[in-house]
Amino acid sequence: MSEKDHKVSRRQFLTYTLTGVGGFMAAGMIMPMARFALDPALKVGAESDMVPINLHVDEVTSEPIRKNFQFEQVDAWYTSEVTGAAWVFRQGDEIIALSPVCTHLGCTVDWNTNPDFENQFFCPCHFGRFELDGTNVAGTPPTRPLDVYELEVRDGYIYLGRPIRRG
Ligand code: FES
Repeated sequence: MSEKDHKVSRRQFLTYTLTGVGGFMAAGMIMPMARFALDPALKVGAESDMVPINLHVDEVTSEPIRKNFQFEQVDAWYTSEVTGAAWVFRQGDEIIALSPVCTHLGCTVDWNTNPDFENQFFCPCHFGRFELDGTNVAGTPPTRPLDVYELEVRDGYIYLGRPIRRG
């Protein structure tokens, strides 16, 4: 091979240099964007952690009790302390924890507060109603049941995961 074959023309040199610099700059812009897009997805596992609600199974009866609890919420790179709530009760051998968030427009439901509709969850915003198991009452605004929490019992204490949408 002659020495001439190894020579790089000014045009080739500029092309290589600009391609290299351009590629480097593009990588610098794309990497943070890719991380931004993927990072929350990678943290899904962290969000699915079960949190204790400071409630022993022996305290749970067939009458729903409202239980507030704290947990850490990761939103992209921002972590905050959030208060959650659940209506917890026993149905036979099963312990159920329902989300108090009305499935109509997100107000908070109460248990047994409307004397006209005893033993139902009642939403004061638009008079939505739900049966004890969270089923929405036909003819009221909500069109699906209350969400039900993932639930685990560890050493007699109740832990909740994320609320699961039904219907
Ligand atoms: S928000 Fe509950 S009935 Fe509308």
